[in-house]
Amino acid sequence: MKKILVTGGAGYIGSHAVVELLDSGYEVIVLDNLENGYMDLVDKRAKFYKGDIRDISTFEKVFSDNKIDAVMNFAGYIKVGESMIEPNMYYLNNTYGVMNIIEIMKKYNVKNIIFSSTAAVYGEVDCEGLVYEDYPTNPINPYGASKLMAERVIIDAAKAYNINYSIFRYFNVGGAHEKYQIGQKGDGVTALIPIILQTAKGEREKLSIYGNDYLTEDGTGIRDYIHVVDLVRAHIAALPSLEKNISDIYNLGNGNGFSVLQMLNAAKKVTGVEIKSEVIERRAGDPASVVASSEKARRVLGWEPKYVDVAKIIDTAWNWYKNL
Ligand SMILES: NC(=O)c1ccc[n+]([C@@H]2O[C@H](COP(=O)([O-])OP(=O)(O)OC[C@H]3O[C@@H](n4cnc5c(N)ncnc54)[C@H](O)[C@@H]3O)[C@@H](O)[C@H]2O)c1
Repeated sequence: MKKILVTGGAGYIGSHAVVELLDSGYEVIVLDNLENGYMDLVDKRAKFYKGDIRDISTFEKVFSDNKIDAVMNFAGYIKVGESMIEPNMYYLNNTYGVMNIIEIMKKYNVKNIIFSSTAAVYGEVDCEGLVYEDYPTNPINPYGASKLMAERVIIDAAKAYNINYSIFRYFNVGGAHEKYQIGQKGDGVTALIPIILQTAKGEREKLSIYGNDYLTEDGTGIRDYIHVVDLVRAHIAALPSLEKNISDIYNLGNGNGFSVLQMLNAAKKVTGVEIKSEVIERRAGDPASVVASSEKARRVLGWEPKYVDVAKIIDTAWNWYKNL
């Protein structure tokens, strides 16, 4: 495998996949509509096409110009709250967009796809231990449902058209590249690390902590945070498995849970800022603890996360974000 098409390659995670693929010796083609992406995040070594995965004609030029070996799809909408207000927008992009990708793969006989799914497919997780891939899927918002439907589209296509897939269900992705000037831009982001860092930078007054009466050590919710570079390296580790016709679904987390207070304290140390916070009501449907088992990705793909220290994850994000 040599040529990889990265859709959504101008976004946060996609741009990290692009540089890691290039540094691993792959040729990279990026397709992005730049709706939530930025040209300055796209490495100049990649070939760029502006286009939309909802428009099948977009793909014709990309696939006829280039002999693509595998598609990594990062293009999609990512905001849970927005998906509740505009569900169809999410199904059109996150599900129908993937159907288009399968259609063009069929036409050009491309046999490999790697798909970014999400822990949101599990819905309200209620388990004491780690979340494994066979935990029942029951998404509670259109974002999670649109991704779960896309998973099904891919799995059915794999059976019928002889396609190999790796589906990755990401937990909370954070951090930024240490070698390249790329990272997560803050606009409208609802993830904890960017919100804490926006507060540290003075762009928000304080961090709202949703409940401190959970049955956890310090009472705040526990989640699993994975560094974006570790995350995209799992995608690269999956490419040889596709060549061996291994298709599977993998959770991607770092396997350790951190509470909101632990994250906040780590960020205070990293930034040197006394970040203000207040405890408010719990949010409906927020579980006490959600931590992934990534054992399957480790075992099948030989992948190992390198950023296990959450302070280091926050540090890389801060180094990028403080200068934006
Ligand atoms: N960030 C996270 O914590 C997280 C967690 C779980 C899953 N994911 C998934 O990972 C993927 C990437 O997320 P991200 O955080 O990098 O988001 P992002 O918004 O930074 O990147 C998405 C990119 O896709 C592009 N895009 C969107 N719709 C498109 C379309 N129709 N055609 C072409 N390009 C389009 C955007 O312009 C953007 O560059 C998403 O599919 C998301 O659901 C992210």
